[in-house]
Amino acid sequence: MSKNAFAGGLLFICGLAIGLSITALAAQQREGAGREGGGRARGPRPPTMEEVPQEILNLRQLVPTNSTIMMDVQFHWTNLWFAGKKRNWPLAQYYFNEARNHIQQLVRKNPTIRNAQDGTTVELQGIFDGIDTSSLQMVKDAIEKKDGQVFEKNYKTMIESCYACHKSVGRPYIRPQIPTSQVQAIVNMDPNATWPQ
Ligand code: HEC
Repeated sequence: MSKNAFAGGLLFICGLAIGLSITALAAQQREGAGREGGGRARGPRPPTMEEVPQEILNLRQLVPTNSTIMMDVQFHWTNLWFAGKKRNWPLAQYYFNEARNHIQQLVRKNPTIRNAQDGTTVELQGIFDGIDTSSLQMVKDAIEKKDGQVFEKNYKTMIESCYACHKSVGRPYIRPQIPTSQVQAIVNMDPNATWPQ
């Protein structure tokens, strides 16, 4: 082997070693960044471009179903009735906001939806906008004015709006009513409660 060939071979091996260690270092850094407290980013590392489509499919699995979102709506809307009955206005405002946010979440998820009976396309956004400026707004006003009688009247009007949307989406069998029993037993609805302090 000539001297030159030997030097060339050595250079090649050095290059290979440097190349390999850079690759290993980069992999280590990527991994480190993914670990809690390691590297710049906290939490899981962002997906690479190749991983994005799979990542989107994974995330879609996590989006709550319409039924789950509506279960939240009915939960908060039920609690709202009992908070209003007790004239606990800050709590009523809280439940109102939660219920409204969840109806909004349904609409954001499906600006349009298929009517379950006739298959036509229903504009959920339009229905929500109509309710938001009428019956929902009326309940909000009554809470803000702390007017118990108006609250009860407007709450019923909103129940009619809930049902109007259910009919529009082809689910007339989901007929809401004034709730018959409180679902959130752990929250004291009494505005004058003194315990826990
Ligand atoms: C903008 C339209 C819209 C409004 C407004 C609306 N809902 Fe719904 N609701 C739906 C749809 C759509 C479904 C069916 C979800 C599904 O396909 O699983 C539903 C389903 C439900 C269910 C059944 C959930 C289950 O799967 O067990 C309840 C309870 C319910 N809604 C309560 C209410 C109440 C209470 C209100 C008013 C405060 C309300 N909804 C307002 C669209 C609406």
